[in-house]
Amino acid sequence: MSDTYTLYNSTVMDHFMNPRNMGDIKDADGVGEVGAAACGDIMKISLKIKNGKIEDARFKTFGCGSAIASSSMATELIKGRTIEDAMNFSNQEVVNALGGLPPVKIHCSVLAEEALKAALEDYVKKHPESARQEEAVGA
Ligand code: FES
Repeated sequence: MSDTYTLYNSTVMDHFMNPRNMGDIKDADGVGEVGAAACGDIMKISLKIKNGKIEDARFKTFGCGSAIASSSMATELIKGRTIEDAMNFSNQEVVNALGGLPPVKIHCSVLAEEALKAALEDYVKKHPESARQEEAVGA
């Protein structure tokens, strides 16, 4: 067996081999694309947001197996969350849900957090009224 297969646990391998939520969302409400300076991998996350909640999330990743598994898991985890809740999303949630990643692959999960936050920022930029609503609720 190659090193790739001994490096990852079965949950990571499952999300790598059978990724969930792959692709784009037509008429997405927010899109975020980020790249990892260390390895050159690229991740894009698209969101459909309705009534302040993430209704759908999809990804396109050009990168390693861990980046694909991380984007698959991240899109699974954030569906149904409010924007505010999703803003606090951390890569550690992805790592935990995947049952761990090798230390040299932690940055792949950070890419998923950054792509999600970029997509949320894109949404807020396009829908400034959503940020005002949150301020009013928090006031
Ligand atoms: Fe760079 Fe995985 S090696 S994202």
